[in-house]
Amino acid sequence: MDGNGRWAKKRGLPRQAGHKVGAETFRTIATYCKDIGVKYFTVYAFSTENWKRPPEEVGALMELFRRYLKEAAETMYERGVAVRVLGDLSPLPQDILDLIRETDRIADSLGPDAATASLCINYGGRDEIKNAVRALAKEVESGEKRAADITEDDIAHHLYTAHMPDPDLIIRPSGEIRTSNFLLWQSAYAEYYFTPVLWPDFKTSDMDAAIEAFNQRNRRFGGV
Ligand code: IPE
Ligand code: MG
Repeated sequence: MDGNGRWAKKRGLPRQAGHKVGAETFRTIATYCKDIGVKYFTVYAFSTENWKRPPEEVGALMELFRRYLKEAAETMYERGVAVRVLGDLSPLPQDILDLIRETDRIADSLGPDAATASLCINYGGRDEIKNAVRALAKEVESGEKRAADITEDDIAHHLYTAHMPDPDLIIRPSGEIRTSNFLLWQSAYAEYYFTPVLWPDFKTSDMDAAIEAFNQRNRRFGGV
């Protein structure tokens, strides 16, 4: 969800104002994805590196997560979208952890066929792989598993996305052309779509354009 800060700056507003509008965009696009049959919609909301931002900005983002999760807990049944949070949640404030426990409970009760909107919070692709390696190393240490028996599936099952398929399409808004530590393992065969549109300006028509571009791609997964 990149470009919130630049969107605000262009208008002479504080960065936080951009994040607020960006959160609205998330609501709109998550609902749109469900309506058009995209089963998994995952956004990068806060990276393991974003703690470096000024405390006011980090605080404002936490407040937005808090508000969003509260609202999600109240509306998830009626909207039929299961909200999930992915990432290393250990440093998050306790009240946010409680909200995540609640949204998880409701998401579980919606069942496996519900459309899922995931928010990556304190997420880093490298951090995620490191945690998977540690967990597998522990299994080897305890004699539960042999190093030579570790498979790609074993690694995938130790990632935050264990319950999800790999992404087909990754959209990066705001004109940046890099992956910035997002779903490193999972993106092996993802199609990338880069657009200059700043996230707060991202509309359902931009989603349509990305899917249209995706539909033109010829995916061979290493074959011919
Ligand atoms: C939102 O955009 C991404 C978050 C970390 C919430 P940015 O805050 O990165 O906006 P720019 O890149 O400064 O425009
Ligand atoms: Mg940015």
